[in-house]
Amino acid sequence: MSAGPLRIAILKERAPGENRVAATPETVGKFAALGAELAIEAGAGEGAAISDTAFAEAGAQVSTGPQAVEGADIVLGVQAPDPLALAGAKPGAWVAAMFDPFREQARVDAYAGAGFEALAMEFMPRITRAQSMDVLSSQSNLAGYKAVIASADAYGRAFPMMMTAAGTVQAAKVFVMGVGVAGLQAIATARRLGAQVSATDVRSATKEQIKSLGAKPVFVENVAGIEGEGSGGYATEMSEEYQRAQAELVSSHIAKQDIVITTALIPGKPAPRLVSDAQIASMKPGSVIFDLAVSQGDGTGGNVEGSVPDEVVVKHGVKIVGYANTAGHLAADASALYARNLFNFLSAFWDKEAGRPLLDAEIGDAIRLTKGGRIVNERLSGA
Ligand code: NAI
Repeated sequence: MSAGPLRIAILKERAPGENRVAATPETVGKFAALGAELAIEAGAGEGAAISDTAFAEAGAQVSTGPQAVEGADIVLGVQAPDPLALAGAKPGAWVAAMFDPFREQARVDAYAGAGFEALAMEFMPRITRAQSMDVLSSQSNLAGYKAVIASADAYGRAFPMMMTAAGTVQAAKVFVMGVGVAGLQAIATARRLGAQVSATDVRSATKEQIKSLGAKPVFVENVAGIEGEGSGGYATEMSEEYQRAQAELVSSHIAKQDIVITTALIPGKPAPRLVSDAQIASMKPGSVIFDLAVSQGDGTGGNVEGSVPDEVVVKHGVKIVGYANTAGHLAADASALYARNLFNFLSAFWDKEAGRPLLDAEIGDAIRLTKGGRIVNERLSGA
């Protein structure tokens, strides 16, 4: 497709509150070593504490405004840019970014209309060789950590037990709901801070993982369909019977907790509701709930009834916290890991003769949303 060196462009993120950037000086240097030409919009690294000078020293051309995209073969983004901003890119250019494809259908349509090849990084298959390309894992891990730190900050008491001359401070009780990548990191972080930690999930395989981190598993037993594991290790939606049993179990447990961290997601569906208003009311005043799924709900909250992105909602004396973009609160580390995911992805497919990456079917078909003016992904309607 390209004559001359492959041109990779990185724009400043336009989404409100998005501080991450899709490349770092490290990945710019590595792409340059593969023979690519890099162009980056001035100020793109600002939110992640990376200066234009640092990008230029690594070999990128820094241009003011979106001209960086002129003649690009590949555009890298954190959140996929509006395709209108990419008018200067080559016809059929690749755009590798997070597209949120299930919820941003209009954007996917616009990409098809613009003739670009949209590559959704969140559709990376969960296979061993793609682990280093998995942006959901790299970002969820940081989000799980930040959820605990933010909860500790909102909590008017300490996490560790402290024996002082003035008396004993009790250890905080932390309950983690949903033990995927974010949940595991939340458990580990809360343990490091000295809390007493318990956790639950619908996938029974997580029981051992919870124990190995020194936390207590809290599980629904003897209900049909407890397995809960669908393709790629992701959760499936649970039966009504299971949901009822889970709600009962959680109700009695939650009332004794100081901090609840919810991380449950089901790909392609609104986040499951795990904590109801009645359960919030059963908690002690001063308790904190952090809803990592706050932005992925049905409009009435995420995993927690009534949670609102980027607001601290106080209900029944309990603080309910959730960020629209949790990983973005650790923009420097989140960018470093995300940028490496992108480099690992493109470099794994680098064809020396072509001077560009050529995707194979297993990964290419999984992540490609649009090509040649059409939606081509089997997970999306209209494909
Ligand atoms: P996720 O972000 O989709 O969901 C978070 C957690 O919520 C999951 O553990 C899920 O089982 C749980 N959940 C869903 N509904 C629930 C409910 N009603 N109640 C309680 N918990 C509920 O999951 P994530 O973090 O993406 O990980 C899913 C699995 O994929 C894990 O086993 C992880 O280790 C695996 N994985 C595999 C990779 C690979 O092989 N390349 C890469 C990353 C993760």
